[in-house]
Amino acid sequence: MKKNLTFLGIETSCDETAASVVQEKADGTGKILSNIVSSQVEEHKEFGGVVPEIAARAHVEKIGFIIKKAIKNSKLHLKNIDGIAATAGPGLMVCLTVGLNAGKAIAGSLNKPFIAVNHLEGHALSPKINKKIEFPYLFLLISGGHTQFLKVNGVNKYKRLGTTIDDALGEAFDKTAKLLGIEFPGGPKIEEWAKKGDENFFKLPKPIINRGGCNLSFAGLKTAVLRASIKLKSKKEKYHLAASFQKTINEILYKKTKVAMDEFLKHKKHKKNTFVIAGGVASNLAIRENLIRLSEEKNFIPVFPPVHLCSDNAAMIAWAGIERYKIKLIDDLKFTAKARWPLDSSAPFMKGAGLKL
Ligand code: KG4
Ligand code: ZN
Repeated sequence: MKKNLTFLGIETSCDETAASVVQEKADGTGKILSNIVSSQVEEHKEFGGVVPEIAARAHVEKIGFIIKKAIKNSKLHLKNIDGIAATAGPGLMVCLTVGLNAGKAIAGSLNKPFIAVNHLEGHALSPKINKKIEFPYLFLLISGGHTQFLKVNGVNKYKRLGTTIDDALGEAFDKTAKLLGIEFPGGPKIEEWAKKGDENFFKLPKPIINRGGCNLSFAGLKTAVLRASIKLKSKKEKYHLAASFQKTINEILYKKTKVAMDEFLKHKKHKKNTFVIAGGVASNLAIRENLIRLSEEKNFIPVFPPVHLCSDNAAMIAWAGIERYKIKLIDDLKFTAKARWPLDSSAPFMKGAGLKL
């Protein structure tokens, strides 16, 4: 097989239109030659969340330009690309179809290999672009659409250890933010406000904290935040609620990650235990510190991919394409988008798992 594979990645599963060119390096990591992400935050702000039809229209308008820009910035020509990878799920069908069709059309017209990538696999393999990491590793994805613990045994080999049974963690941040009058997406502002408040002011529930293994639940917490928000008397109390919410999240993550780590270690002692944390919520410094502290206690090496690889991007899709191509996982151009596509097909269905809505 050719050395130093170069792939074009395309991502349109939710509200980011993204394209990227990534080249494999001799040491097995990747070099990002271009990474274009066009976010639609402004388009969805007034609705307090992502509106599928608006997102799909924006993807259609931008996708051609974004792909051309990614190729131009990489200083390569399409003919130098070894393969095309596009996100095929999970996500919003109307959005997925845009990037997937663009990828299939390019691959078909140039007669290049095509790889249909699971968005979650993109996240799970993303830390390997910058760092050599051995399988297996423990992976926590905390984004606006997903919250799950995975044991990454290898490319295409995943065991889901736990997942949210209702809302994703980013969603819980965004809903709390909305109740406090903060614009979507409100996670970063909650982190800012939390610094100014008293984290012990409100006592909030930690749903299923002592049961359900490392599955998580945030719906009951959201209801408690709603009740507390109705009685808020001052701006200071808003800061207190943000701080109390973030502290409660940290307590939940600490406990559930500990359970996930024990589960990861249960079957086999690994020489080096690595714990990778990705997704937009992983940029929260209080959460980072909390999980770094726990990793030290449990003898895990914590790895946070850089922020531009943590949130949705196409470099991770191009990289997953390279990794899959290397083990001959090549797809047919008939591949269709999947709204629901869990990485571990043996794991039971849960509302919040593998479904990005
Ligand atoms: O991974 P991401 O960029 O996009 C997808 O969900 O696909 O994650 C976005 C989520 C949003 O819910 C946002 O509020 C949250 O990540 N987020 C944060 C922070 N920065 C982004 N949540 C808490 N603290 C932050 N600093
Ligand atoms: Zn994502």
